[in-house]
Amino acid sequence: MKTIIEPFRIKSVEPIRMTTREERQTLIRDAHFNLFGLHSDDVLIDLLTDSGTGAMSAAQWAAVMRGDESYAGSPSFYRFEAAVKSLMPFAHIIPTHQGRAAEAILFSIFGGLGRHIPSNTHFDTTRGNIEASGASGHDLVIDEGHDPASLHPFKGNMDLAKLEAFLETHGDTVPCVMITITNNAGGGQPVSLENIRGTAALARKYGKPFFIDGCRFAENAWFIKQREDGQGDRAIPDIVRDCFAEGDGMTMSAKKDAFGNIGGWLALNDDGLAEQARAHLIRTEGFPTYGGLSGRDLEALAQGLTEIVDEDYLRYRIRTNSYIGEALDALGVPVVKPAGGHAVFIDARAWLPHIPPLNYPGQALAVALYELGGIRGCEIGTVMFGAHPDGTETPAAMDLVRLAIPRRTYTQSHADYVIEVFAELGEIKDRLSGFRIAWQPNLMRHFTCRFERLAD
Ligand SMILES: Cc1ncc(COP(=O)(O)O)c(C=O)c1O
Repeated sequence: MKTIIEPFRIKSVEPIRMTTREERQTLIRDAHFNLFGLHSDDVLIDLLTDSGTGAMSAAQWAAVMRGDESYAGSPSFYRFEAAVKSLMPFAHIIPTHQGRAAEAILFSIFGGLGRHIPSNTHFDTTRGNIEASGASGHDLVIDEGHDPASLHPFKGNMDLAKLEAFLETHGDTVPCVMITITNNAGGGQPVSLENIRGTAALARKYGKPFFIDGCRFAENAWFIKQREDGQGDRAIPDIVRDCFAEGDGMTMSAKKDAFGNIGGWLALNDDGLAEQARAHLIRTEGFPTYGGLSGRDLEALAQGLTEIVDEDYLRYRIRTNSYIGEALDALGVPVVKPAGGHAVFIDARAWLPHIPPLNYPGQALAVALYELGGIRGCEIGTVMFGAHPDGTETPAAMDLVRLAIPRRTYTQSHADYVIEVFAELGEIKDRLSGFRIAWQPNLMRHFTCRFERLAD
């Protein structure tokens, strides 16, 4: 069959509150044109993030009831730990309330003034935690990763030549090497198993521990199965295990590929590092058998990890993105190709060439999508990455708008509506105005900064 149906039925629903275009124009102005400032009740299709917004299964809700809330040694922790280890066989699994808490712990150990931490592309919270420690983050993705039109099958790959040169140049100031799978900030693009192995080999050659940001490990494994030579007949869990066998540890946001509404973990092989990490965990998150989570959260994640590697789910999941991506492409909307794993990325700089990068074409497009169609997407461009710790600002490598698709939450008719809004937007896009930032905080400004529209 041509139609890849949602491999689930709906048992429980949430209403969507309908709004008019005029109402939304007022609402977004009141939120200083920052989409993070909207009440989610005022959003029709919320594609701000795929993080924590997925629908849990009946089996997960059943597991929630089994949650044991003992402070220490809860059986829920041991079920969670076993589920993680069945896919990522690290020696120490340290639960945290979400991914950035795992990053904060990792960089309390590996960060620090004058240190340099390379990755394919650090996600914004990863970079934020690195920079807050005084260290600097460096993005060494392959050149194709910066070209929205390139059809390279693994646009999230680390540039191994750049990494080796980096390790030669920065020597002892590099405490560890990281890689993000899939590469969220670079368009949700996958990293090949070969590239993960190549990155790990370079890290080993230079004596650096290698950490994997594994937020979307299952989507990445699906792409490996579909696109990498010799991987097509392999089971997803086997591919996943091969990826993590290369690492000395990982950070994880369980709000993505563990079907959680909250959760994360830090995993490590080294006993000494794990001891340091747990000391930090106890101070900031909680006792090591719950981290920042309740027993019921740990149970939901343990069950979610068994569901996320299901091939019928992954086929439908990845197809949803390519379905929207192909339809937008047919409308002449420049999308990052091929479609990423968790989101469709629109090249706003290319679609709105009359708005210069420092007037934030991505923000202009994201605001227009909300005003016209009630769709909330997210700017991933100069607003998110353009500001530097020394107070200067430069255009980001790309100005994208990300439409992140929550897991198991929307149906094909929601996808068709999104496509229709883009068709309408195509008629008025040349009249959209850029923005200036009227106020911003010191770090991670995109969450709270306030905008003014230039034409207003
Ligand atoms: C690649 C990547 N790393 C880390 C994080 C941070 O995880 P959390 O939101 O759970 O703190 C995210 C969240 O979007 C992410 O996409």
